[in-house]
Amino acid sequence: MKEYSPVKEGKVREIYDVGDNLILVATDRISCFDVILHNIVTKKGTVLTQMSKFWFDFTKDIVKNHMISVDVKDMPEYFRQDKFNGNSMLCKKLTMLPVECIVRGYITGSGWKSYQENQTVCGIKLPAGLKESEKLPEPIYTPSTKAEIGDHDENISYEQSVDYLEKRFPGKGKEYATKLRDLSIALYKKCAEYALSKGIIIADTKFEFGLDENGEVVVGDEMLTPDSSRFWPLDQYEVGHGEPSYDKQFARDWLKANPHDDWTLPQDVVDKTISIYLEGYEKLTGRKL
Ligand SMILES: Nc1ncnc2c1ncn2[C@@H]1O[C@H](COP(=O)(O)OP(=O)(O)O)[C@@H](O)[C@H]1O
Ligand SMILES: [Mg+2]
Repeated sequence: MKEYSPVKEGKVREIYDVGDNLILVATDRISCFDVILHNIVTKKGTVLTQMSKFWFDFTKDIVKNHMISVDVKDMPEYFRQDKFNGNSMLCKKLTMLPVECIVRGYITGSGWKSYQENQTVCGIKLPAGLKESEKLPEPIYTPSTKAEIGDHDENISYEQSVDYLEKRFPGKGKEYATKLRDLSIALYKKCAEYALSKGIIIADTKFEFGLDENGEVVVGDEMLTPDSSRFWPLDQYEVGHGEPSYDKQFARDWLKANPHDDWTLPQDVVDKTISIYLEGYEKLTGRKL
């Protein structure tokens, strides 16, 4: 049996190259404040992968995506091991477009900070008088460059994204930039409206797109997971302050209260975190894992 090792190992995800395709594996690791904790959050990786699968299926009328299968039977034999079962997605290898396509439907985080300074978010002027966590009149598209390793991502305007893509794909900058913007907004709108009906606010999110073998723009990476988005429980939503994050709040709170810890959560905090991930999945998909 051919063995594989990851071509890339991130804090939480691992990527395997299997020829024309990639396998994206979401592990059960958890990172908080940019540190990988010592705990394993059982099933977290499966929740993330199955959530992406749900959204890829849900949005295929808007845009094609890179997903081929989440069934390890469709993957090389090496992946038919327990540790890959459920948390792995076989994907078409794409030529990625190096733009992080961020859509914000609510004002929070760095956007709220910048709004308080000059009433703009990433150069987009917003109405006066917005409160923290308030819904925006319309979702806004605020792309950033996808930095090379070691560099920081940088916010750019839509116009800058045209030039940025034109440099890398001559003659195509305008076409790709427009597609990324329009597809991102369309995906966000459809999914946020659906999530709201299930009791979850998708405050903001990030998509990544690439070109398939026919040069068509398709959506890749993970999609609308708690790692790429801010999910807020609707029943606790209140403007005027920050919102609890759906996924890591217990872990973050505990770490803040125990600053001298060596990044190991007590089991009851891990258990609460697991149940939050499962609850989010069940609410959104209406299915049990
Ligand atoms: N279908 C695909 N083909 C090629 N690269 C992909 C595909 N889907 C996602 N990627 C890339 O795989 C990588 C996923 O790695 P990740 O762990 O998220 O780290 P990071 O985002 O910091 O690079 C990203 O660089 C993403 O752009
Ligand atoms: Mg990433």
